[in-house]
Amino acid sequence: MTSEVDAVVLVGGLGTRLRPLTLSAPKPMLPTAGLPFLSHLLSRIAGAGIKHVVLGTSYQPAVFSDYFGDGASLGLDLEYVVEESPLGTGGAIGNVRDRLRGDTVLIFNGDVLSGCDLPALLACHADRDADVTLHLTRVLDPSAFGCVPTDETARVLDFLEKDPNPVTDQINAGTYVFARPVVEAIPTGRAVSVERETFPGLLQAGAVIGAYLDDTYWRDLGTPADFVAGSADLVLGLAPSPALAGRTGESLVLPGASVHPTARLSGGTTIGAGCVIAAGAVVTGSVLFDGASVGANAVVERSVLGRQCEVGEDSVLRDAVIGDHAVLGRRIELLAGARVWPEAILSDGSIRFSTDG
Ligand code: GTP
Repeated sequence: MTSEVDAVVLVGGLGTRLRPLTLSAPKPMLPTAGLPFLSHLLSRIAGAGIKHVVLGTSYQPAVFSDYFGDGASLGLDLEYVVEESPLGTGGAIGNVRDRLRGDTVLIFNGDVLSGCDLPALLACHADRDADVTLHLTRVLDPSAFGCVPTDETARVLDFLEKDPNPVTDQINAGTYVFARPVVEAIPTGRAVSVERETFPGLLQAGAVIGAYLDDTYWRDLGTPADFVAGSADLVLGLAPSPALAGRTGESLVLPGASVHPTARLSGGTTIGAGCVIAAGAVVTGSVLFDGASVGANAVVERSVLGRQCEVGEDSVLRDAVIGDHAVLGRRIELLAGARVWPEAILSDGSIRFSTDG
């Protein structure tokens, strides 16, 4: 074993909360600020001087390898491990053990957008000579996350997954450093949850689990609301990504898109390649995948428009998710988390959706 650090990125989840967007691509490959989300994470890993990266895949594995290949274009040595059936977050970590080269493993949930200082996280792990070090962040509502209380020496005391009465606002931020023997001790041949089984088991066994708490940018892009907000923050330059250096602003219009001069784009909107935005349209804080079109005077706020979908003139979309190739006629109103399945056709009229459906 050597002092080389391996990075492992967990990208095998089904991304059910982001359906229907994740029907055609895994969540880490959805375009955010014009690039597959994973590009932002991989560029951070490369920026931290780490070369060897293993992707733990399961759902639609070829989408990753077709796009990133051997990783050379990012300056990385990229490998893929495919789970026949999903092994869960812990099982996926154990499943890459044969590919590890060093004695320290930096592990990422593949859907987290973060400004965590990776060299500082690794240094914190080494200084404590810990078995595991967790990146923690503070959130306003910890009940939806894994709560992680610590003592005055920043040693982890407990893991309280999705506790309705959280004892702290510190949560598991989805980036971990594992000493290699911890990876090798994860049971094989069955699904394991790192949050519900590995971490509590390690604590019970007296392992040294350290915490690295910071207040840098952090967002888990697992829901449509977080996905659009994260993409917008990347475009606005609020979320850090070396992959976007020098390309941030109110909106990002990719080559081949056509935006009428009277249309207004703001709030970190991304307009994908080949999109058409007609006169008077207003698009705010939204993500338009390649080839989507927005009709005259339509309003699109905090929404995701799938590939080649069409939004008719005078329509209003707020907090909506539209699947690939869906066609929305004129004067349609979709609000509060409405989701339209791919290829659905909503004809002209004052159709109004206000709940998931
Ligand atoms: P939801 O279905 O919406 O909860 O999304 P998800 O399937 O991505 O699950 P979650 O957000 O909890 O996963 C956190 C990270 O772990 C994501 O980057 C997933 O891709 C990854 N992940 C989750 N389960 C597995 C698994 O069984 N195998 C692998 N390799 N990765 C996983």
